[in-house]
Amino acid sequence: MNEQIIILDFGSQYTQVIARRIRECNVYSTILRFDTPAAEIARMNPKGIILSGGPNSVYTKDAPLPDKAIFKLGIPVLGICYGVQVFAQFLGGKVEKGQKREYGKGTLTIADKACALFKGLPEQSQVWNSHGDKLTRLPKDFVVVATTENSDYAAIEHTQRKYFGLQFHPEVVHTPRGKEIIANFVHGICGCGKNWTMRSYVDQAVEEIRAQVGKERVILGLSGGVDSSVAAALLHRAIGDQLTCIFVNNGLLRAREAEVVQEVFGRHFKVKLQYEQASALFLRKLKGVTDPERKRKIIGRTFIEVFQAATKRAGKAKFLAQGTLYPDVIESVPIAGNPAAMIKSHHNVGGLPKSMKFKLVEPLRCLFKDEVRLLGLELGLPKEIVYRQPFPGPGLGVRVLGELTTDKLRITREADAIVVEEMKASGLYYKIWQSFAVLLPCRSVGVMGDERTYDFTIAVRAVESQDGMTADWVKLPYDLLEKLATRIINEVKGVNRCVFDITSKPPGTIEWE
Ligand code: XMP
Repeated sequence: MNEQIIILDFGSQYTQVIARRIRECNVYSTILRFDTPAAEIARMNPKGIILSGGPNSVYTKDAPLPDKAIFKLGIPVLGICYGVQVFAQFLGGKVEKGQKREYGKGTLTIADKACALFKGLPEQSQVWNSHGDKLTRLPKDFVVVATTENSDYAAIEHTQRKYFGLQFHPEVVHTPRGKEIIANFVHGICGCGKNWTMRSYVDQAVEEIRAQVGKERVILGLSGGVDSSVAAALLHRAIGDQLTCIFVNNGLLRAREAEVVQEVFGRHFKVKLQYEQASALFLRKLKGVTDPERKRKIIGRTFIEVFQAATKRAGKAKFLAQGTLYPDVIESVPIAGNPAAMIKSHHNVGGLPKSMKFKLVEPLRCLFKDEVRLLGLELGLPKEIVYRQPFPGPGLGVRVLGELTTDKLRITREADAIVVEEMKASGLYYKIWQSFAVLLPCRSVGVMGDERTYDFTIAVRAVESQDGMTADWVKLPYDLLEKLATRIINEVKGVNRCVFDITSKPPGTIEWE
């Protein structure tokens, strides 16, 4: 079993960030609900516990509190923000509403240079605060180890029990030395080694998959996106020909997408790949449909139909593999104001019907997205797949506005290929969330050579985002925009105008439909 740190989640929007920071230290971390029984935690044998922040006040009636027996486990505990107040509640300190909210940057001054949490840090460094409540009396046997301009108790320690409390957030980027603080906790204080790497995870996952699947057969819907691709490569490493990947060409794919999947998985990895050419069927079902929601529903339903028929042809399989990631399985804490809870429900749309009687194999369910990418590289997948930008399930179906036709799909595909090529050439493609072409459903007048044209408009969209929930439009350099417009209009037959979308989300969405 991996050495691990348990994070008890009190509803902070940064809980997952804490988990990722720990894993960046090559230590495995697990997020559990704040009220997980101490006995259950003890069974997992963690090397340390972190109490996350949270939006509540510890002194209110409904405040989320942990099982107090966690303080009898004899392992180090780090409380962050609300987590400090939990110490106060259980170990004899006092928390009160602060005179003013401490929000934003502050300067941390270390009072005790021997404090193991701050090993290697300068006497002063920047930290980031976000709290309204304040510790006003230290819990029993705790001492102050650092202060900020607004807080005499910015960091506290119970040396003997290895309990630490931080009023500020070490996990966010605005605390530039925060990574070192977390590394000091997990390595120096909890004594964890650096055992969590994707190289070692491959062996562990291969063993687990083999143990779960035995000699049975597994089916996986391969979309060519990062998650299903990495899941396919991992499963293939574990069970070889017991895996069949089904790739559905819905006719709404980008340029060369189907070819790349066939090259990489069919020819290079020699995965058993069942290629379903269903473009004509999708287009037939979408004929005359202009409403975005109806388009999405038809695409979703048709996919299930095609996939179900394909699984029957693939022969008898007991398991269905899915590229579910850790953020989808963390049980979010239903505390009002916790945006993490909303993010989850948004992304859980779609999926296959429950009537498909498979058992699930989810070999990525303990990984974050950045770990999935590293795993992909470890398994030998090309950068083109591992670092590709997100692409919506309905594909170009929601990027050709209004009714879909073969010619409009061709125009969008060709324009999109130019956007991808130029974004890669400029070095921006892998730095931003998404960049793509959208075909507007109306034509306008132009002049090319001596001739009047009456053709379509392509909108270029480029956005920066952390999770797709909010996004900023990217200020692409003028010369890149000019090159995009010139190439798209010159090279894509049927386009005579190019515009750039400068809408952020909100109020816009990233996709246009
Ligand atoms: P919106 O348009 O809602 O998009 O701002 C947010 C992010 O989600 C992607 N997206 C989808 N992904 N199936 C998906 O797998 C979908 O139906 C879908 N719709 C939007 C979009 O590309 C963006 O990254």
